[in-house]
Amino acid sequence: MRLEKTSGRSEENVKAVAQTLETLRIKELQPYGKIVKLPIALDEKACVDNAGNLNQLLADTITLRDLYKKHHWQTSGPTFYQLHLLFDKHSEEQSQLIDLLAERIQTLGGVALAMAPDVAEITLIPRPPRGRESAPAQLSRLLHAHEIVLKEARTTARLAEGNDDDGTNDILVSDVIRTNELQVWFVSQHLAAAQQQGGL
Ligand SMILES: [Fe+2]
Repeated sequence: MRLEKTSGRSEENVKAVAQTLETLRIKELQPYGKIVKLPIALDEKACVDNAGNLNQLLADTITLRDLYKKHHWQTSGPTFYQLHLLFDKHSEEQSQLIDLLAERIQTLGGVALAMAPDVAEITLIPRPPRGRESAPAQLSRLLHAHEIVLKEARTTARLAEGNDDDGTNDILVSDVIRTNELQVWFVSQHLAAAQQQGGL
């Protein structure tokens, strides 16, 4: 009897919390995709365009970071320990880029994507299987993801340069492009070694 009463109260609490969340959702301060212009001496169209492009790049960078973490946990083979450490290092570097991109979007007056379901909806990086893949397959998958990110970053950097958004251009060129290119070098060396050993 006591248990039923407790369970009834708990159900009411859950409903009350859900209602509060629904109210908060309706009263969100700024919808996704809308700009609340800050006085940063850039025209609104530049802010809208660059924030939109940066959100695509943010979604793909979050996916790449998660791909590195998945591989960090699931890697195998004769170079297990090296790959385990390398994948974690790259994952942390991608996390730093994520913060830079998200905060640039907010600085442009936009709303940065944050949650996994939203990221999954718009990322251009193919979804990997839930299960484990071989180390050479992991390395190839990472290189493909880096190439998607690099193409987007270069295109977005050029567009930002064209609409006078030097801050966005600088983050893309100095941080995103250089970090991704360097990571590609390391990953490529591991893939070449695996191919020489007949691992692929
Ligand atoms: Fe770890």
